[in-house]
Amino acid sequence: MPLLDVKDLTLNFKVKEGWVHAVEDVTFSLEPGETMGLVGESGCGKTPLGYGITQLLPDNAYVKGGQVFFKGQEILKPSMKKDGRLDAYTSEMRNLRWDEISMIFQGAMNAFNPVYKVGDQIIEAVRIHKKVTKQEAMKRVVELYKLVGIPKDRINHYPHEYSGGMRQRAMIAMALVHNPSLIIADEPTTALDVIMQRRILTEINNIQKEFEMAMIIITHDVSVVANVADKICVMYAGRIMEYGKIKDVFKRSSNPYTQALFAGFPNLRGERVRLTSIPGNPPSLVVPPEGCRFHPRCKHAKEICQKEKPPFIELPSGQRSLCHFAHEVQDGGMGNE
Ligand SMILES: Nc1ncnc2c1ncn2[C@@H]1O[C@H](COP(=O)(O)OP(=O)(O)OP(=O)(O)O)[C@@H](O)[C@H]1O
Ligand SMILES: [Mg+2]
Repeated sequence: MPLLDVKDLTLNFKVKEGWVHAVEDVTFSLEPGETMGLVGESGCGKTPLGYGITQLLPDNAYVKGGQVFFKGQEILKPSMKKDGRLDAYTSEMRNLRWDEISMIFQGAMNAFNPVYKVGDQIIEAVRIHKKVTKQEAMKRVVELYKLVGIPKDRINHYPHEYSGGMRQRAMIAMALVHNPSLIIADEPTTALDVIMQRRILTEINNIQKEFEMAMIIITHDVSVVANVADKICVMYAGRIMEYGKIKDVFKRSSNPYTQALFAGFPNLRGERVRLTSIPGNPPSLVVPPEGCRFHPRCKHAKEICQKEKPPFIELPSGQRSLCHFAHEVQDGGMGNE
């Protein structure tokens, strides 16, 4: 049984102009201890998907379809509220947050309250969900600081006395407070320099192995995913474009969007290639393009792509691709028209 099973999840935001189709028919699963990279350009719906799974959606969010299962239990279905709106979170989820599923938020580095010591804020997080004494909670904080590599004399410092990297590690420590089985980390290292990024990701990976913790790492940086993930989910304009084992997708991508995204990242070990950015911009999600949402920017687009939503094609190599021409794209037989 997968740890997390997301089936056809569709989330919309209600805005003045209509609906923002932020997440559409998203399907993937995650095994215990597995890491999935969720990648895509800015604005493609990665954070809303993470919030949808953890049910931290704002008031104007509606679950329009789909289901989420965690350890076999259905934790999210649209019928939970009549019109698709959820309370802060469902009772199923209330029991899981922090203990089983925790989230590192995008920009979390700046989420500590500046007027309290960092250690005290983490102690609070320990004690909110567990009846333990302050001393016991402190013991856990010391353990966690060791785990994420912050000297323990830092526990009594204020957020402004921490470097960016240290604040980020402290946030990771906070997410680990109750040894969750799943962490959703939204851009956990984006604001940091490359060396610090590497160090933090290696630490997270070690912790994951030690505790068999699964992770969804949300990032627009493909190289981060290449280093840490088992699986990859490539998202564009609210839809999953390609999904599969990282080695399959990296070796032989079958989706023009994935290929275009990868072409923008350097490969340190491979041959030297010219980096290319994807021409154009991601579309408005209020009125997304008909057919394949990537067609206006796709160098392979044909007439059918403008009209019909592509099927999610399963390829012999293992991954799935939302493209009418997935086989041809994978074989390199589409030319550059
Ligand atoms: N509360 C909201 N109300 C209306 N629209 C929203 C809301 N939250 C997000 N959106 C819209 O949903 C779409 C996707 O969200 P978002 O930009 O957070 O995606 P993302 O992939 O996480 O991007 P980034 O890489 O910049 O973090 C965007 O068009 C955004 O404007
Ligand atoms: Mg985001």
